[in-house]
Amino acid sequence: MNAGEADGGPAVRRLDAWDEERLVALAGEYETPLYVVDLDRVAENCARLRSAFADADVKYAVKAHAGQSVLRTVREAGLDAECASAGEVERAFVAGFPGDRVQYTAVNPPAGDLDLVVERWREHPELTITVGAEDTVDRLHERGFDGRLCIRANPDVGAGHHEKVSTGANAKFGIPIERVADLATRWAEEFDLVGVHAHAGSGISGEDLSAHRELVRRMGDLAREVESRVGPLEFVDVGGGFGVPYEEDEPPLDLEAVAEATREALGEVGATLAVEPGRYVVADAGVLLTTINTVKQARDATVVGIDAGMTTLLRPAMYDAYHAISNLSGAEDAEPIDVTVAGPICESADVLCEHRPLSRPDRGDVLAVGNAGAYGYEMSSTYNSRPRPAEVALSGTTVRLARRRETLTDLTALEQ
Ligand code: LLP
Repeated sequence: MNAGEADGGPAVRRLDAWDEERLVALAGEYETPLYVVDLDRVAENCARLRSAFADADVKYAVKAHAGQSVLRTVREAGLDAECASAGEVERAFVAGFPGDRVQYTAVNPPAGDLDLVVERWREHPELTITVGAEDTVDRLHERGFDGRLCIRANPDVGAGHHEKVSTGANAKFGIPIERVADLATRWAEEFDLVGVHAHAGSGISGEDLSAHRELVRRMGDLAREVESRVGPLEFVDVGGGFGVPYEEDEPPLDLEAVAEATREALGEVGATLAVEPGRYVVADAGVLLTTINTVKQARDATVVGIDAGMTTLLRPAMYDAYHAISNLSGAEDAEPIDVTVAGPICESADVLCEHRPLSRPDRGDVLAVGNAGAYGYEMSSTYNSRPRPAEVALSGTTVRLARRRETLTDLTALEQ
């Protein structure tokens, strides 16, 4: 089946829906820690987005998972690529995205990023550059860029699952919205002004759409103002941030309701609506497999020591994020016990969870960590000189090593 033809599948895929035997076999064959990404699920998530936002442009925020296997699946499923760096732009082109489906969102862009993206634009003049600072435009001028420009507004409305992922009101991102119409009028004479953009933050929940609605309402007003001054825009991009249920009992986002609220808040505009989800596309398409190394009875906790840590999956340490964990080797009938699951890194923050029930943990057991597809491998590091894990990609019954495990030799390879 072609990824573009996938149906949307269920609204959420929880950890217990993965084939446990298959995961245990993968851990045996490829060793742990191991990321597993299911490309069929990526295609389903893309299909649900395309169907809910049928009349919109759906762009995939590459930063959530920039692996080639995912990018190719997303491209085949008809999504565009929203890239946060020159590196992501390169990855998108390697994955076969045509220039008219690549958008580069410049955030305090280093000179080298602008050099490379402008070079790519000369080969692919349909590429779009989004600017979030006035002097980025000067820097593009200096490089001879006069192509498709989008302006990132700071709408003064932020949202997100954690203060560290709320962007819409953060001074770092975008140009204050009240200044954008004047700048758009000026820049429309110098560039091909195609759109306006804003992103509230990451982790929109179904219960509270108010920040999202308010951002979209402000962007609708902005688009109407700009269109009245300079003529039609191609798109109004209201960002990504669609949340996924990390907790087992959390309901999935009602995507149709979000899409309807978005259209209603936007109002009448000439421009096409655009959204740019990352997490929603890949989060529940990925799990992390890890092996228990030690089980220790501490003063007031049972500490389960595993071979994955904050260098493998940073989200719990960085955002106190919850990820479901299950013991794939635990006896079915064993009573769960209360555990702390901790990694091998010498940092107190290197804890995946505390006070979590886990069925009888034994040394050598394989644990699965859910919703690890988004911002998992991408935020991994080699801190404590731990090589990055491997990743396998599943498609139907086939398994492919998508990224090989780093070796100790890789760790020193860059040193002179
Ligand atoms: N568009 C822009 C301009 C963004 O900055 C982001 C995310 C997205 C789209 C996609 O947001 P998403 O749909 O994935 O929520 N590392 C954090 C998330 C940081 C998101 C940064 N920007 C985490 O693991 O929760």
